[in-house]
Amino acid sequence: MTEIKKIAILGGTGKEGTGLGMRWAHAGYDVIIGSRQLEKAQKAALSLNEKLELDTVIGLENSDAVKAADICILTVVQAAHESALADLKDVLQGKILVDATVRIEFPKAEPPKPPSAGRIAQDILGEGVKVVAAFQNIPAKALGKKLGRDLGIDVMICSDDIEAAEVTVDLTEAIGMGGYYAGDLDNANVVEGLTALLVRMNKHYKGNGSIRIAGIKK
Ligand SMILES: NC(=O)c1ccc[n+]([C@@H]2O[C@H](COP(=O)([O-])OP(=O)(O)OC[C@H]3O[C@@H](n4cnc5c(N)ncnc54)[C@H](OP(=O)(O)O)[C@@H]3O)[C@@H](O)[C@H]2O)c1
Repeated sequence: MTEIKKIAILGGTGKEGTGLGMRWAHAGYDVIIGSRQLEKAQKAALSLNEKLELDTVIGLENSDAVKAADICILTVVQAAHESALADLKDVLQGKILVDATVRIEFPKAEPPKPPSAGRIAQDILGEGVKVVAAFQNIPAKALGKKLGRDLGIDVMICSDDIEAAEVTVDLTEAIGMGGYYAGDLDNANVVEGLTALLVRMNKHYKGNGSIRIAGIKK
C-alpha cells in the first residue's frame, strides 16, 4: 500500500479544502494548501497553523503543491473543475487525485447527469493519473466540528483503481469518518446525486445531515 505523508489540497483555500486540510493536519499529516496564488495559499496555511498550534501546514501554488505531495485532493469550485484539471494534467501524471467535485446547481439542486465528475477527471487526465471520487456528501461545515473525534458520517469512495480507493479509505478513516469502496468512477455519479437529496433534506429538516452506511462489517 502507498505510504502517504504529504497531502496537497488543490483549491485548498476554499471551504471544503480548508475543512479537510484542518483535519489531516490535526491527524499528523503534512498538509500543503494549494491555490492559484502563492500568497493566498500561504495565508490560508498560516491561518490553519495558528488555529491548530502547528507549523506543518504550508502553502504553495497549485502545481508546486502537486509536485511536493504524495497524494492530491481537488477542491476547486465546481465551475473550474475541467479547466483546473487541464491546467494541472502534466504535473499530476503518476499521482493519485481525489476529486471532491459535486456538480449541483443551486437553488434547483438536481442530481447531475452522467458521466460523474470523477469520470470526467479521469478522461481529461488519462491513464497516468489514478482518479478517486470522494467526500462529495461531506458538508464543509461538518468538517469543522469534533476535531480529532469521530464525525459519525461515512464516505463512499469510487475509483477504477482499487489500491487508490483503499489509500483514500485509510485517509478518510484517519480524520474521523468511515470510508467505503463503492465501485468504479461511473458509480460516483450516484454519490454526487445523493448530495442533491441531502440538500433538499437539510432544507426541509433544517439540518446538516450526511450519510451513514449500515450493515457492512469491515
Ligand atoms: N462546500 C461544501 O460543503 C462541499 C461539500 C462537498 C463537496 N464540495 C465540492 O468541493 C469543491 C469546492 O467547494 P467549496 O465550497 O470549497 O468552493 P469554494 O470555497 O467556493 O472555492 C474553492 C476554491 O476554488 C478555487 N477557485 C475558484 N475559481 C477557480 C478557478 N477559476 N480555477 C481554479 N481554482 C479556482 C479558489 O482557490 P484559489 O482562489 O485559492 O485558487 C477557491 O478557494 C466543489 O467542487 C464542491 O462541489 C463542497
